[in-house]
Amino acid sequence: MTSQQIKDLTGQYIMNTYGRFPVAIDHGQGATLWDPEGKEYIDFTSGIGVTDLGYGYQPWVDAITTQAGKLGHVSNLFYTEPPAKLAEILCKRTGESCVFFANGGGEANEGMIKLARKYSFDKYGKGRATIITLNNSFHGRTITTLMATGQEVFHNYFFPFTEGFRYAAANDLTSLEAAAGDDVCAVMMELVQGEGGVLPLDVEYVQAVKKLCEEKDWLLLADEVQTGVGRTGTLFAFQQYGILPDVVSFAKGIAGGLPMSGIMANEKCRNVLGPGTHATTFGANPVCAAAGLVVQETLSDAFLEEVKAKGAYLRKGIEELNLPCFGKTRGMGLMIGIEVKEGYNKSEIANKLIENGLLVLTAGPGMRLLPPLVITKEEMDQGLAIMEKALG
Ligand SMILES: Cc1ncc(COP(=O)(O)O)c(C=O)c1O
Repeated sequence: MTSQQIKDLTGQYIMNTYGRFPVAIDHGQGATLWDPEGKEYIDFTSGIGVTDLGYGYQPWVDAITTQAGKLGHVSNLFYTEPPAKLAEILCKRTGESCVFFANGGGEANEGMIKLARKYSFDKYGKGRATIITLNNSFHGRTITTLMATGQEVFHNYFFPFTEGFRYAAANDLTSLEAAAGDDVCAVMMELVQGEGGVLPLDVEYVQAVKKLCEEKDWLLLADEVQTGVGRTGTLFAFQQYGILPDVVSFAKGIAGGLPMSGIMANEKCRNVLGPGTHATTFGANPVCAAAGLVVQETLSDAFLEEVKAKGAYLRKGIEELNLPCFGKTRGMGLMIGIEVKEGYNKSEIANKLIENGLLVLTAGPGMRLLPPLVITKEEMDQGLAIMEKALG
């Protein structure tokens, strides 16, 4: 099919819920994608932080193919090897104790919220179910995670929403203390706010929140749906904050492009969700888990150091272009935000770059780059050259 035919068919038969760029993608290799007519795009998006191994990564393709030929799905009523091995690796690499596998980020956060409320219910009974989240956060699109999201714009249309969320300003312990109360069971945060604009939290703030949580027996819930799985240059961002959260959610990059997510919990929370309290049909799918094992094998400590170096290279390259529309860059590893100067429109910039062959994202008031973690120096240089040509 041609790009136009794909767009027409989509318009006719798929619900119109996405503001799509006018591009159809057919195939990819490394961090480069092609449309059906053969036009090339350098990918600074990774399918919104998902395809950490890029496209056509042979060990990933082989693992999926082999596992699909062996066993595609059998349900959680039986034991299978790939998710058990993946959970072991995640725990050993992070210090967490156990994992529950799900399918998407919002669903993982639902599980994390359920765990926090049940932890408190088991210990203190009813009336202690409130979760404090941060202004400008994003936690998902379900009725509950929309409410966990600290942005008014998302609290619309779908009433009634789930009760039990209060919001505090990021990097402001006084604001968090003001939101405290006898009804609180947990604090939930992204360590780098992604959709909000790539805004890293301060280390001192996060450590102070962890201390406050310990004092009050609140659980600290880290939403690492976007920051997790190597994106920030460590396997999880919390490893750069010197804390071990009680529960961590992950999704996006965990299986390199197949739908998989989950939560990891520490020893204190190991037995909170027992048989019958939480489940999902597709969770721990063996094909997704086999893909996840390849991701873990690839993301060695040396590879993660490279992610930090690549992030620094790209940020320096962007700042040195001195483009009239861009201000400073920020972020961690290959999760990069670019300030858009007043008088310029982020969507217009994104469209211009895409027209010229560079796929980028926007977030909050600026641009957001989430390239595949395997991106090469040549591909980064090509992307920078397109920026200069399109925006210089
Ligand atoms: C931090 C964070 N949490 C949750 C989600 C929701 O994930 P999903 O779209 O897979 O449900 C996202 C998606 O962008 C996210 O960035």
